[in-house]
Amino acid sequence: MTVKQNRPLWVGTSWKMNKTLAEADSFIDQLLKFPIPNGIQAFLLPPHTALARVHDRLPANSPVLLGAQNAHWAAEGPWTGEISMRMAKDAGATLIEIGHSERREHFRETDRTVALKVAAAVAHDLIPLICVGEPLAVRHAGGAEDFVRVQLQIALSELARPEISQVIIAYEPIWAIGERGVPATVDQVAPVMALISDVTTTAGGDVRAVLYGGSVDSQNAIELLRDPNTHGLFIGRAAWQASGFITMLKLCAPLAHGNAGPARRNQDRQGSKDVGFDSTTNADTYADPVEGQRSDRPSEHPAIQSVTFPGGTQ
Ligand code: PGA
Repeated sequence: MTVKQNRPLWVGTSWKMNKTLAEADSFIDQLLKFPIPNGIQAFLLPPHTALARVHDRLPANSPVLLGAQNAHWAAEGPWTGEISMRMAKDAGATLIEIGHSERREHFRETDRTVALKVAAAVAHDLIPLICVGEPLAVRHAGGAEDFVRVQLQIALSELARPEISQVIIAYEPIWAIGERGVPATVDQVAPVMALISDVTTTAGGDVRAVLYGGSVDSQNAIELLRDPNTHGLFIGRAAWQASGFITMLKLCAPLAHGNAGPARRNQDRQGSKDVGFDSTTNADTYADPVEGQRSDRPSEHPAIQSVTFPGGTQ
């Protein structure tokens, strides 16, 4: 394992649907006692209910980036139960996780809605963390790379070429995620990581980072980071307790590049733009991302303005 082209080593966790405010406080209290190692870009994705609280508990100069686990593509409007990119940013998010397999499976997220959310995130100067990954049957049939290629091409399809550099991709094979997940080996992961590198290069260039996720723990982390196209780890269960997260940070520290500074977080929840990237976009059109739903609200992104919902009603 070597340093990855002067990048920080990304190590983060989504809490998924876990943690009350008191539990979030306890995690942050413990994390604050541990100095984040140089060269590691740590990140946390609390549930929406805890995002602002965690933001407020971290010092303004904290190197820990925060994100939301999902946000809608529309700027505002009648989308009961959803939050907008602007609201996520206002609550302290710098990152927006998009298209996790649990959202695709349980909440009907599609490649197309993922693309809309990616465009909306970039339009709001948020960093999309795009999850891709194949089901077991597809891998068994030898189709993992083709499956991920299509997911990724569609996910990036509404970005202008220069915007590709702003995104983070997380490769999370579905069969490796969660309690029943089977940990992947670096040999299984490496060809897909190489494919992701090819697709993103063709789409516009180097992305911010490509992470691996799915049953990552202290047993397999170092092995997975041997892959030259893997720039970090996206961890679930093994980092839900602060002690587990700190263990993973310590473990990864020797692999991180001392000179690679962390990305900047949004210090100001009221709409600062300090992740600093160009939001110019293309204006390709979409049809029918979610059948039967529509928003007439204007969007800040040309691609989103052009969404049409044939026959849909609110
Ligand atoms: P896991 O979750 O590490 O608990 O498998 C990973 C994920 O869903 O991102």
